[in-house]
Amino acid sequence: MTSDPDRGTGLAPASAPDGAGPADVVIAGAGVIGTAIAWRAALRGLTVTVVDPDLGDAATPVAAGMLAPVSESVFGEQDLLRLNLLAVGRFPGFAAELEDATGLTTGLRTEGTLAVAFDKADHDRLRRLTAFRRQLGLAATELDARGCRDLEPFLAPAVHGGVLAIGDLSVDNRRYAAALHVAAAKAGVQFVRGSAARVLSPGESTAGAIELADSRVIQAGTVVLAAGWRTGQVGGLPESITRAFRPVKGQILRLRHPGGMPPVLTHTVRAIVKGTDVYLVPRADGELVIGATQDERADREVTAGAVHDLLHDAMSVLPAISELTFTEATAGLRPGSADNGPVVGELRPGLIVAAGHFRNGIMLSAATADAVAGLLAGEQPAAEWLPFTPARLA
Ligand code: GLY
Repeated sequence: MTSDPDRGTGLAPASAPDGAGPADVVIAGAGVIGTAIAWRAALRGLTVTVVDPDLGDAATPVAAGMLAPVSESVFGEQDLLRLNLLAVGRFPGFAAELEDATGLTTGLRTEGTLAVAFDKADHDRLRRLTAFRRQLGLAATELDARGCRDLEPFLAPAVHGGVLAIGDLSVDNRRYAAALHVAAAKAGVQFVRGSAARVLSPGESTAGAIELADSRVIQAGTVVLAAGWRTGQVGGLPESITRAFRPVKGQILRLRHPGGMPPVLTHTVRAIVKGTDVYLVPRADGELVIGATQDERADREVTAGAVHDLLHDAMSVLPAISELTFTEATAGLRPGSADNGPVVGELRPGLIVAAGHFRNGIMLSAATADAVAGLLAGEQPAAEWLPFTPARLA
């Protein structure tokens, strides 16, 4: 549908597509994962080329930017929770370095997430989730309906109760991606517009190399695959990787407060509305993001039903959003993996994969950049990454 022309994706246009010389590292994928890795690798003194057909425009700009290990944690994903906690602990320092390096803001917010339940059945489900989260040692403060409205006065009177998770953060994913791109470019990273078609095998190339769809070959000491769900479509990879990734469609809305209107939210709000989840993520600049649908589909069409359902559920808990300006509805493709966990590690000497971050790409980007920049320097990633190496897919 429409997009705010002032915001766009925040990504700079392609540069130097021809004649990119051999680099220490070539990264397929200019979303937050590939660009964050590129920046950190360049800071370690490596020469880096990033290649992407649309410069990271697939999943990154469609995200909401929740950094929410507590309120995204679900039954059976304890390893992922440990990794998400590591990642969110790292994020503020990473964002501060990024802001220092670029002079740009990332829109990081620290108020936490208020999870609310619309009716009694929703509240029962939220209580079960909260008991599980507390068992895992996560901080979650239960609130009655009045306690919720004390924190967020515009919540509907019908809201039954909720839980405050102060460990959750949020970031403006578009500002963050734009800052990463600027920081990487300032550190010397070269961006090339093109589609990674095939990784050359060691027999074909003395170093790592990627062949692009237009037959150009980019040589490098190490190839890093960070192409989201498209990672599995790159040729020359083991079958375990080829079949590991899939697109998972998400539709999301963006609204904006008209000039002079006070913010309708301070915290990120996650609501359960008659069994369905919806989240509302406020930005300091007046934007409000509402998401998201989740479908096992590969198209990027925005559907009337999704817009209706997201607005209906969001307005059930926050009727005041009817006064906001509707600016955008978009669909993106999350990079799902075989077990919905990220896949980060070495496939063979000179070939690293960093993909499959699914619902947690923005949250895991800083920790992934640390892990992969460390691997490029011969260091072992933090122990929290052990369950998420490519070896588990073989
Ligand atoms: N992380 C939220 C989503 O993927 O919708």
